[in-house]
Amino acid sequence: MDKNIDWANLGFGYIQSEYRYISNFKDGKWDDGVLSTDANVTINESAGVLQYAQTCFEGLKAYRTKDGNVVCFRPDLNAKRMADSCRRLEMPVFPEDRFIEAVEKVVKANIDIVPPYGSGATLYLRPYMFGSNAVIGVKPATEYQFRIFVTPVGPYFKGGVKPITLRVPDFDRAAPRGTGHVKAGLNYAMSLHAIVDAHNQGYNENMYLDSATRTKVEETGGANFIFVSKDGTVITPKSDTILPSITRRSLMYVAEHCLGLKTEEREVLVDEIKDFTECALCGTAAVLSPVARVVDHSKDIFVAKDTENMGEITKKLYDTLTGIQMGRIEAPNGWIKVIQ
Ligand code: PLP
Ligand code: COI
Repeated sequence: MDKNIDWANLGFGYIQSEYRYISNFKDGKWDDGVLSTDANVTINESAGVLQYAQTCFEGLKAYRTKDGNVVCFRPDLNAKRMADSCRRLEMPVFPEDRFIEAVEKVVKANIDIVPPYGSGATLYLRPYMFGSNAVIGVKPATEYQFRIFVTPVGPYFKGGVKPITLRVPDFDRAAPRGTGHVKAGLNYAMSLHAIVDAHNQGYNENMYLDSATRTKVEETGGANFIFVSKDGTVITPKSDTILPSITRRSLMYVAEHCLGLKTEEREVLVDEIKDFTECALCGTAAVLSPVARVVDHSKDIFVAKDTENMGEITKKLYDTLTGIQMGRIEAPNGWIKVIQ
């Protein structure tokens, strides 16, 4: 492939890499898995994924560190979350140790497109699984494919760390309730209308509320929320219907244990966000993206203390998290997997 990539100006898009990892499940077991140069998937017209969206995915990144290593951030947690998604969707679990081995293999095979340290870009990994054989009654497939592809990416939101604007949509993200912990294609497909509508109206993303009462803050289409209150407490919504973000878990740990800040994971009422000083979106893709304002039907319901720059505490969190990921700051035990 063309390696003349302009790392500093990459957006969050798909660039086809040379190798991807593939393993097939048939007759009740996973095969040994291979690296392939074929980026296309050929499946039956009645495959479980096409008819009943039996599919789930993960997202993690490989980083080139200050001292030239290539590392992944907490891939064990992605392995575990994918196993949880699979169980919820009646799909066979891809063993967690094999998930980590596959991550290692696919990063190594594509090592020349892990962006350079300091470029602002990273290598995004997309593990996913789908029901591949024909089903026509509503039931699980019996054959599955697990794959991981990689693509170099820049910032998720255009403008990098420039604060973005959200709005509260009229519609909920996901019709099926109780599936928020599952990182599955159908959940995301159900959010596409809200996202396109937000973009058409000039907003970067949606602030989804709990669909039962529409009084509590949940998450956005691809990231969790972190808020900072006037007294400097780092607050994140507690909810059973949001995706349990690995970035958020890590940031809350960093806030408490590395920065000595007070932290709270609790229900966050949409009515109270006007009193917060900072708001940011966290996730593998979003990293920690500051939010300038949140609008609900033309009314500002949150305006950051500084609408032009990342807030003071958000910046500390961002610098510490990315410092750990890029090898500038010592990581808590077990957070960094060196690819060798
Ligand atoms: N919430 C949603 C809906 C997401 O798609 C993601 C991204 O994976 C997150 C939150 C953040 O999760 P993580 O930090 O594990 O990437
Ligand atoms: C991620 O951060 O990995 C996500 O899944 C967010 C989005 C790109 C779906």
